[in-house]
Amino acid sequence: MASSTLVCETQPWKDLKVHVEDVKKTHLRDLMNDVERCKSMMVEFDGITLDYSRQRATLDTLNKLCNLAEAAHLKEKINLMFNGDRINSTENRSVLHVALRAPRDAAVKSDGKNVVPEVWNVLDKIKDFSERVRNGSWVGATGKPLTDVVSVGIGGSFLGPLFVHTALQTDPEASKHAKGRQLRFLANVDPVDVAKNITGLNPETTLVVVVSKTFTTAETMLNARTLRAWISKELGPSAVVKHMVAVSTNLVLVEKFGIDPNNAFAFWDWVGGRYSVCSAVGVLPLSLQYGFPIVEKFLKGASSIDQHFCCAPFEKNIPVLLGLLSVWNVSFFEYPARAILPYTQALEKFAPHIQQVSMESNGKGVSIDGVPLPYETGEIDFGEPGTNGQHSFYQLIHQGRVIPCDFIGVVKSQQPVYLEGEVVNNHDELMSNFFAQPDALAYGKTPEQLQKENVPQNLIPHKTFSGNRPSLSLLLSSLDAYKVGQLLAIYEHRVAVQGFVWGINSFDQWGVELGKSLATQVRKQLHASRTKREPVEGFNYSTSTLLTKFLEESSD
Ligand code: F6P
Repeated sequence: MASSTLVCETQPWKDLKVHVEDVKKTHLRDLMNDVERCKSMMVEFDGITLDYSRQRATLDTLNKLCNLAEAAHLKEKINLMFNGDRINSTENRSVLHVALRAPRDAAVKSDGKNVVPEVWNVLDKIKDFSERVRNGSWVGATGKPLTDVVSVGIGGSFLGPLFVHTALQTDPEASKHAKGRQLRFLANVDPVDVAKNITGLNPETTLVVVVSKTFTTAETMLNARTLRAWISKELGPSAVVKHMVAVSTNLVLVEKFGIDPNNAFAFWDWVGGRYSVCSAVGVLPLSLQYGFPIVEKFLKGASSIDQHFCCAPFEKNIPVLLGLLSVWNVSFFEYPARAILPYTQALEKFAPHIQQVSMESNGKGVSIDGVPLPYETGEIDFGEPGTNGQHSFYQLIHQGRVIPCDFIGVVKSQQPVYLEGEVVNNHDELMSNFFAQPDALAYGKTPEQLQKENVPQNLIPHKTFSGNRPSLSLLLSSLDAYKVGQLLAIYEHRVAVQGFVWGINSFDQWGVELGKSLATQVRKQLHASRTKREPVEGFNYSTSTLLTKFLEESSD
């Protein structure tokens, strides 16, 4: 185990520890009065405006955070990522999801080899295949066009594609190309999810895309076998070749499963599962639903942010600023959570996706060199679209715990509705809340204000809002495929920035392994008990008792 300096031992970290005590003495109400401060906390890039003036930060904080970035070698680490160095050291892999959206003529190297041509070979194959399915030249075993797609995958092989699909579903341009088609996602091994996803589908018109980086994930493989049986039962085993395709890095296992390798779409071990939505993992199902040109726009959006992330100076660099401010909130204010609050229903699945990107990446206990960390990394990410969230958990955010919030708003709604006679249209109503909530959090409401409003004395403590609760706002000019790509890349890179500063490996996920291996032991026991009536053995009292009860009560 190599030892290296932890970031908390550097002078900029120590300076920030002192500085935060000063900032704690200020109130956002006052900070917001400083127009020069607010002006310099607004950054624009390619249709995206970031306003972080409602962070509990001064201009000096930003300088000090940039010093921290320097001490953590942030710029060098970003460069190493783009250069294809094996920065995921515990898995000995490069981290090159940026290559997935690089233009055809770009060069991105892994082990000295430009990977962009391979990326585009797969994209061209997806374009060709999806066009053939969509125009009916690729048909099912009974000669019918395949209008419905079920994408079977979990975690990174599910959440990203679902987020993008949900965002495009209501985009007029994308949805125009999806007429008469449906895309479903089967993730959970729960038979309820299986039933939900095949109900109403006809195997004759269904294409199943099995998405798994490893092609070993227990849930995905069982679901894939279930759908293979569903197709075989209805159409005969020979139909599988026409109705099942795969996305994986493990083409040997794909073939072993019975899927024609010609119908397998590859990606590479330098793409982490949670960073794989721009690979065939997302591009194939989304191209089948919306057509490749729409998905290409999404890739271009992500690529625009990659360029910005790679080249913009830190003080104008949206992912870097977001990442540094998150480090500020977690490591210095010690806020444990972050709320992701898109004011558009189209981003309904954004928070669940970012939950995995962020929590699987940065929920770590040791440095990249294996040294136990004396500070916390990562935050608890959660969120819901506004205004729904306001009627759910915002009470806690306003008067309970302090949770830094990301407000994400869109200038032009995907689906404007104008109702005559109303004061404002639906989108303006929605956005009224988008603009109001950050100020409510920042300013709060004082007992003096309440007294002036003649609020009864006994209610004043209940109606007081302390304010001084940090948030930031991201305003997008619209929400089309390009913007969805940009938003994705902003958050991916923000997470990387946090991890780079904390000195951890944001690209491995050893923490998911223990539960998987214990489940293997339980799975063996369930099988032995059901088939050979073997007694439950080798577990602690609690697990043995519950397992025995489960076996007894589910055997009839
Ligand atoms: O949850 C652990 C994990 O390994 C994720 O990192 C990954 O996205 C998911 O499982 C699915 O893995 P695969 O694509 O290999 O089926």
